Amino acid sequence: MRVLITGASRGLGREIACLLHDDGHEVIAVLRNAEHAHPPWSTIGCDLRDPNAVARLAADIEASEVDVFVHAAATAPANADRGRIADAFNVNVVSAIVLADAVVPAMIARGSGSLVFVSSLAALCPIDGFSVYGATKAALDAYAQALRARVPDDVRVLLVRPGRMATDFFHSNGFAADVVERARTFPPALGAAQAVVARLDDDGEYVHGPDRWLLRAKRLLPRPLGRLVWKRFT
Ligand SMILES: NC(=O)c1ccc[n+]([C@@H]2O[C@H](COP(=O)([O-])OP(=O)(O)OC[C@H]3O[C@@H](n4cnc5c(N)ncnc54)[C@H](OP(=O)(O)O)[C@@H]3O)[C@@H](O)[C@H]2O)c1
Repeated sequence: MRVLITGASRGLGREIACLLHDDGHEVIAVLRNAEHAHPPWSTIGCDLRDPNAVARLAADIEASEVDVFVHAAATAPANADRGRIADAFNVNVVSAIVLADAVVPAMIARGSGSLVFVSSLAALCPIDGFSVYGATKAALDAYAQALRARVPDDVRVLLVRPGRMATDFFHSNGFAADVVERARTFPPALGAAQAVVARLDDDGEYVHGPDRWLLRAKRLLPRPLGRLVWKRFT
């Protein structure tokens, strides 16, 4: 399989890339600093904040046959950081849409393909400090659902909520020291990566880990109680 993946410099994206590469698949990683990275797979340099660069990349990959597209890249500006709101939408949503739209026509023509969009519970439930991030993920959810309705059944569209993971996400996005410290206690990204790789042929939504039960409780319980449960455990 040929896999095009964003966000594979670290965290969940890197774990997914490692697993697929170790399984013998051809991995092509879209990296913002490709010239400094030396992973054992191919890389393409692109800063996903830049819509022009993403459009050029989309034109370049249109002709290549991509079997699996994984969008794991994301950024999470603090709510008050207005300068990074557009960046967050460009990285988390616009690049996902433009790159997916570039590879989907060949998947439809071939009658096979998988698209994986890494989303978050923040798209569905409010989390303190993550409102802009949540808004980008809700937009990504809406696009993935619309894409799933548009493509034939042999092209799979999977929306993944990987749950909390101990990655550099919190530190690299400038969250407060206590948040960064707490994030170190989260499970490693490998479990979610293994679950994603095992589900590349699946369609629909996959929620990984204990957050699945939290989300279910929030959805089923009467609103005030659901809100309490949510606040207590997030
Ligand atoms: N960690 C969690 O608890 C958690 C929870 C729910 C959902 N998620 C989601 O899971 C996915 C992976 O998260 P993670 O924890 O692995 O995050 P991470 O460690 O912060 O990795 C984010 C990835 O996105 C890339 N990226 C960010 N801005 C970019 C840009 N402008 N151009 C190109 N690439 C860019 C980063 O590349 P650089 O190395 O160049 O910065 C990195 O490879 C994300 O979609 C995130 O929203 C994470």
